[in-house]
Amino acid sequence: VRAVSVLVLSGSLRANSVTDAVGRHVTAALVEAGVATRLMAVRDLALPMYDPDVHTSKMLPAIAPLFDAVKQARAMIWCTPAYHRTMSGSFKNVLDYFELMTADKPAYLTGKAVGIIAVSGGIPASVTAITSLEFVAHALRAFVLPYTVPVPFADKLLDSEGKIANAGIRTRIDLLVQETVAFLANYSNTVARPSVSHGAGAGS
Ligand SMILES: Cc1cc2nc3c(=O)[nH]c(=O)nc-3n(C[C@H](O)[C@H](O)[C@H](O)COP(=O)(O)O)c2cc1C
Repeated sequence: VRAVSVLVLSGSLRANSVTDAVGRHVTAALVEAGVATRLMAVRDLALPMYDPDVHTSKMLPAIAPLFDAVKQARAMIWCTPAYHRTMSGSFKNVLDYFELMTADKPAYLTGKAVGIIAVSGGIPASVTAITSLEFVAHALRAFVLPYTVPVPFADKLLDSEGKIANAGIRTRIDLLVQETVAFLANYSNTVARPSVSHGAGAGS
């Protein structure tokens, strides 16, 4: 089995999630660029609400394959729907589980890159959702790739075959794919990096 270079996390809990369609598009574009890419949908992970009292270990069955893929990947693409101008709760819930990587060496997503896409009904929410996810990526020690992709007007995005109909959005996704490929080619994840968990004076 080929190692995963990029893990795409996408979607809402909706069966016809537009965000999932965008996740499938970026996954196909990365594969076409020669990158070993895996797509995981938030709906398929079906994680219960993260409870720090209950979920104290990585033993929840759905967590092992997710964390295996995260650890293998040198970059992630986060593809969230915009809810109330930020990421959806179900998307953030998956990221909340990453707190279980606090004691890992290195912690969280240290040394990895995150590319960010957000899908919204109107214009501003995809932009503000991206900004919110930038905070999360930095809290988890990741590098945020430039050329984030806001995707507004979700209800008009897909054609009758469920493909992205907007050439401008496809171009912007291509830029993100090129940035991801450049990161993989030029950044060595063996570079020694400081690694501390959250906490007084030390973490982010
Ligand atoms: C709870 C909820 C809140 C939403 N809030 C916003 C919002 O603040 N701004 C916006 O432009 N769209 C908002 N939307 C619309 C979604 O961003 C849009 O329907 C998007 O396509 C949802 O992604 P999905 O198709 O992957 O489920 C909201 C949708 C839901 C269900």
